Amino acid sequence: MSPEARIADLRRALHEHNHRYYVLAEPVISDREFDTLLKELEQLEEQHPELQDPNSPTKRVGSGLTDQFDKVAHSSPMLSLSNSYNQDELQDWADRVQRETSGSCRFTCELKYDGVAIALQYHNGGLVRALTRGDGAVGEDITANVRTIRTIPIQLSPDAPERVEIRGEIILPFQAFEALNQRMEGLGKKAFVNPRNTAAGTLKLQDSAEVARRGLDCFLYGVELDSAGLSSHSSGVEAAESWGFKTPKVLPKAFEVVDNVDDVMRYVAHWEQARQGLPFAIDGVVIKVDESSHRSSLGSTAKSPRWALAYKFETEQGLTRLKRIDYQVGRTGAITPVARLEPVFIAGTTVENASLHNADQIAQLDIREGDLVQVEKGGEIIPKVVGVVLDERPEISAPHVYATHCPDCETPLERAEEEAKHHCPNEQGCPEQIKGRIEHFASRKAMNIDGLGDKSVEQLWAAGMVKAPADLYDLSLEPLLTLDRMAETKAGNLLAGIEASKAIPFERVLFGLGIRHVGETVAKRLARHFGSLAALQLADRDGLLELDVVGPVIADAVLGYFQDGHQMEHLTRLQRAGLQFEGEVDETPQGTALLGKKCVVSGVFSMPRDEIKRLVEQNGGRLAGSVSGSTDFLIAGDKMGPSKREKAERMGVLILTESQFMDMI
Ligand code: IVH
Repeated sequence: MSPEARIADLRRALHEHNHRYYVLAEPVISDREFDTLLKELEQLEEQHPELQDPNSPTKRVGSGLTDQFDKVAHSSPMLSLSNSYNQDELQDWADRVQRETSGSCRFTCELKYDGVAIALQYHNGGLVRALTRGDGAVGEDITANVRTIRTIPIQLSPDAPERVEIRGEIILPFQAFEALNQRMEGLGKKAFVNPRNTAAGTLKLQDSAEVARRGLDCFLYGVELDSAGLSSHSSGVEAAESWGFKTPKVLPKAFEVVDNVDDVMRYVAHWEQARQGLPFAIDGVVIKVDESSHRSSLGSTAKSPRWALAYKFETEQGLTRLKRIDYQVGRTGAITPVARLEPVFIAGTTVENASLHNADQIAQLDIREGDLVQVEKGGEIIPKVVGVVLDERPEISAPHVYATHCPDCETPLERAEEEAKHHCPNEQGCPEQIKGRIEHFASRKAMNIDGLGDKSVEQLWAAGMVKAPADLYDLSLEPLLTLDRMAETKAGNLLAGIEASKAIPFERVLFGLGIRHVGETVAKRLARHFGSLAALQLADRDGLLELDVVGPVIADAVLGYFQDGHQMEHLTRLQRAGLQFEGEVDETPQGTALLGKKCVVSGVFSMPRDEIKRLVEQNGGRLAGSVSGSTDFLIAGDKMGPSKREKAERMGVLILTESQFMDMI
């Protein structure tokens, strides 16, 4: 047999075994036999590089570094779902849909996976592209990482259409999440907070071999029906199953087609309880109209289809003991109280720390050490303590006395009248604040110094080498090499990163200085308005207040910064090191919301029409004079001629109002 034929046979067999193992959970050969076949294929591919194929089963394990991800326009916008939070809203929606379809529609019920949306494009059966949702119009090409996910077929069965797009959700099951955190712990690294954010972060890793190791999984929830010649969502799901996909049908009762609202409600009630037992997180269920003809007639708004509705579950709560209240100091000196809890399992993860916000909140809820507290994990990453079970309060208990001194440098804390948080005034001497400022200075959105994370800052600080950002520019190779785990390459990279930061534009230097209340946006606006640090320094209060993003608090913070002798000395050193203290702000917006989209602008707007056209082009769109079959969007102002609208509707062109357009960009 020719090597070519053998390679083709092996690939076919391995795809098949992979599907049996990961999707159907019905393997017919042992792991060992599988590995033997895989090894043989690897060897053959190595000997015949001309027969390489990005969709070979050998590519499932990932490899070295990928380049930055390309931005690619979606074939059709990736919309989101309208939400409902109670059964009345769900009932109203279903009634309306049934009315509009003359009672002839069926509903599909499925789970709302709490993960990351993905669009998978197949051509001739092979996976050619996997895109993140991005902003809905343009996503990022993460194909190399997605190829490592075993439940996503990279080669569809022969009966799949020539071109088809499948959309779904990539999730990190609880078990894989826990295993990853254990591995991180072993490496002395920080644990991840929740499966959803970890899945999102994992998909953006540069190293696909690491992606492969983490155990992501995927459920499909949408099959492009037209191109596959299918007339309903349920038949699409069935077809996708036969092409090799893992569909929700693998879970009992997870995918149902019903023809009345009562059955929808029964499905909701079932999963509200049963979700506890699932091996991954869901945050609700999704109800969709099944028939594609009804879907077309119901249509979509700019944000979401009218033929689908998400029903969101209540945020999950847990009860646990509050062991202790600790305090953390941020880079600006702000103090945050943190609840240390008896470990409690909520929504799939173990929670041991929660935010308590500030002194007022602790007093208001009368939260005491030893209390049984309610902990809630909402959409946000950090869980919070939302209440106390007073009946369970230990007999001996005392109101919490808020910290009076800084937990790090023991300076008495202060609290400004208008501020919710206490803060440590020892700006120049409090180690946590200084380290925090250096970390902020080096961070990605500021000076973007590679290799200078919190661990290295801690190390440089402990060795007395860096006490302020300006000290970074005095570092040299020899002393760095005396540090623990600092070999030549690492030290060299760090120095190169520091050197490269000298070219970072002024607006980011200004943000990196860490002036209180001056975030990214304000820094950019100040840099644009004043053009240089020297000019900003000369500005008076009124001059600062002229900017719409600057209020009294920010103005005073900026003025205070330049009146501080320490800061001025530090600025002089940074300037001498060669950082950019002036310069034009890059005004050309990098918007990609309309990348490659053909747009027609028509009617009267709240601003001159040319301004709308300029915005289209600035966001990557192309302008066209009249609506045609290749138009993507018609941006419609007031008084637009009815014939234009009709034509657009007939051709299925998405019509955007001015505000929808603004939302989009
Ligand atoms: S359908 C246009 N079905 O929820 C409707 N979405 O806000 C396309 N999601 O971005 C979505 N489970 O990432 C659909 N069974 C499901 C889903 C689901 C999770 C996500 C999806 C989407 C978001 C909607």
